[in-house]
Amino acid sequence: MPVKVSFKSNHGIQGSYEVPLDKSIAQRSAILGLSTNPGVEGEDIVSTKKAAKQILSGADNLCLDMGNSGTGMRLMAGFIAGLGIDAELVGDESLSNRPMERIAKPLREMGAEIYLKEGKPPIKIAKSDIADEFIYDLEIPSAQIKSCLLLAALSAGTKIKIIEKETTRNHTELLLQHLDADLAVKKSNGETEITLDATKPITAKDVFVPGDFSSAAFLIGAALISKDADICIENVGINPTRIGFLEVLKEMNANIKIENVREANNEQIGDIHVKYSPLKSVILAKDIIPNIIDELPLLSVLACFAEGETKVSGAKELRVKESDRLSAIELMLKNIGVEFDVFEDGFNIIGKGANYQFSSGNFVSLGDHRIAMCSALCALKATENIFIDNVQSVTTSFPNFFEILEQMGFTIEEA
Ligand code: S3P
Repeated sequence: MPVKVSFKSNHGIQGSYEVPLDKSIAQRSAILGLSTNPGVEGEDIVSTKKAAKQILSGADNLCLDMGNSGTGMRLMAGFIAGLGIDAELVGDESLSNRPMERIAKPLREMGAEIYLKEGKPPIKIAKSDIADEFIYDLEIPSAQIKSCLLLAALSAGTKIKIIEKETTRNHTELLLQHLDADLAVKKSNGETEITLDATKPITAKDVFVPGDFSSAAFLIGAALISKDADICIENVGINPTRIGFLEVLKEMNANIKIENVREANNEQIGDIHVKYSPLKSVILAKDIIPNIIDELPLLSVLACFAEGETKVSGAKELRVKESDRLSAIELMLKNIGVEFDVFEDGFNIIGKGANYQFSSGNFVSLGDHRIAMCSALCALKATENIFIDNVQSVTTSFPNFFEILEQMGFTIEEA
């Protein structure tokens, strides 16, 4: 659905908000058949829950539709490979174009029988035996690959050691420890070694899923570039492997405070208080990239309204997300009128400062939820309406995104 978005307000964005449930934690919980709290669920969570139900039904030779979710497909593939059942995993057009060899290769090394179509979905898994012990050096810094392999070992009841050089989100490790799994994490010489002995049983427990930081990031971004804004986003997951974006924003001069910090099932939760802040540019260190990978399109928008040149490199993984997000950033920024350069693994943007406004724009989301949401925020800095070609995809992670924008003072109409 194409939309027309504008923001005209005499006072900045105010109020307290909650965001949908954390996709990463909810999807992992769903695959393990654990009960979770109610809350707004993106379609990625819904499709993973549906697939998990199909598996729990005990039927063999399943066809599981993972929708738009790379996390759902990759983690589920590992879990199924370990279970030793026949299954096929399919997805929508975007997911059908995403690389799966990155999980198929190590799963085959573990003993699984997996077939892809030219490296992409559908993924066919045939009954097979998983090796009793497996050691894997994570070549691509990806929590999805790490979690796929941990879940394969878990459902097969085998032992696995994974070595990661760059830290990626650790929700699977924390969840398995919550379930009393024999899982140890050792850090030395800048590497992390994760060992799981899944010959020992785990205990099913309830899981509290907080709000998704990657969704909260859009509201944080909105407040930072809207004059006089002062908002609080409550009950957000603030796992340190997820909130590198806050560190980057603080370096950019953002006024952000985390309040009321608490913990549930090993995950930290807090309320995020954000005020309008004139931002300055930042040069990102490469090792923080996996931690802020989902927030980089948003950072590109904020960089346009920051003072100075922002530089991001080492982010070629952006090319294989729900869209080629570096191309999507390029198309998005063309509307804003800043000088920028997008290259193979990153971008440089010369910001025009907090007072900069552009007139209008025709944004294309490439069917990618995060690009559609970034585009909508640009209305805060446009003097006229902006247009976005298709925003249907926001339902995959943030079904009530536009309702929240309306509460904040945006006007959204079908175009
Ligand atoms: C996720 C890991 C990240 C992230 C995705 C969710 C997860 O992907 O981009 O949105 O829940 O494990 P990669 O593992 O491909 O980096």
